[in-house]
Amino acid sequence: MSAPRFSIEQDGTHRAGITGVCVIGAGTMGHGIAQVIAATGVLTRLHDISAEAIERGLAAVRSNLDKGVSRGKVSEAQRQLTLDNLRGSADLADAVAGVDLLIEAVPELPDLKRRIFAAAAQHTGPQTLFATNTSSIPLAQLVGSVPDPSRFIGMHFFNPVHIQPLLEVVRAEQTSEATLDAVLELAARMGKDPIVVRDSPGFASSRLGLALGLEAIRMLEEGVASAADIDKAMQLGYRHPMGPLKLTDLIGLDVRLAIAETLAREIDAVRFAPPQLLRDLVAQGKLGKKSGAGFYDYA
Ligand SMILES: NC(=O)c1ccc[n+]([C@@H]2O[C@H](COP(=O)([O-])OP(=O)(O)OC[C@H]3O[C@@H](n4cnc5c(N)ncnc54)[C@H](O)[C@@H]3O)[C@@H](O)[C@H]2O)c1
Repeated sequence: MSAPRFSIEQDGTHRAGITGVCVIGAGTMGHGIAQVIAATGVLTRLHDISAEAIERGLAAVRSNLDKGVSRGKVSEAQRQLTLDNLRGSADLADAVAGVDLLIEAVPELPDLKRRIFAAAAQHTGPQTLFATNTSSIPLAQLVGSVPDPSRFIGMHFFNPVHIQPLLEVVRAEQTSEATLDAVLELAARMGKDPIVVRDSPGFASSRLGLALGLEAIRMLEEGVASAADIDKAMQLGYRHPMGPLKLTDLIGLDVRLAIAETLAREIDAVRFAPPQLLRDLVAQGKLGKKSGAGFYDYA
């Protein structure tokens, strides 16, 4: 990766213009984040602990782009630009060397995220911003793992990343204006529509979305209606593009369970208590669309 144009000025402010990014975690979110950043012409590396996950992630990006081209939503030139700017790297030191921004999208486990930031920070320079794609972990629990908390921020993307316009930008108490500005500038280049939220468990989107999702699962448990009818109630009655159970399948039942556990711990143990049905399905490996089954069958 060429030397980054992003640097810290004498007065401590950052010069805008992120030109090199590493995304850590090539799963559901990571590959999509890498895709939308590479599409802006920014050199992007996709890192994962599993070489197979990197290959799967890169293949998913190619497939997204091919579909985009065949539907007339992506030009051949945009497809090529994205692929030219994206590469996988199984070596953490190589993946983060010289980047201006590192975004982690590993599982929703505070210890794992802290370990990854601390390990990556050993190979980054004073210009590197650190972002987390966490859905629910308070940034205050992660910020201590980076060398300079003013360069830490939340970038909460939505699934599928290459389609969803929202970017929830989360400000930790220590996040500097310069860090916020740099991320908002990148958001504009990605064509994302950002909201800025103060650090609090579940931020704005996960807290509200989870409340609806958990209630839908409890209703299914109680036999109030079928999954399809509960979803239809919200689609037709409230004009939601997708019902809460289908959306939980898309997000991943394991991901939603982890968020519920965090919010039950951090906000209210009763309101956000994970329903038994959610725990049972996760224990059975029914994680939603990515595993072939969840509240619906995708076989
Ligand atoms: N799934 C969603 O809809 C969604 C939406 C917004 C935010 N999020 C958040 O994004 C994060 C990732 O979620 P996901 O659904 O993409 O998870 P995922 O399980 O699909 O992918 C996680 C990836 O991280 C990799 N990984 C695990 N340990 C690692 C390590 N030590 N180093 C490098 N890579 C490692 C795994 O191999 C896997 O490929 C979570 O914090 C989640 O809460 C998820």
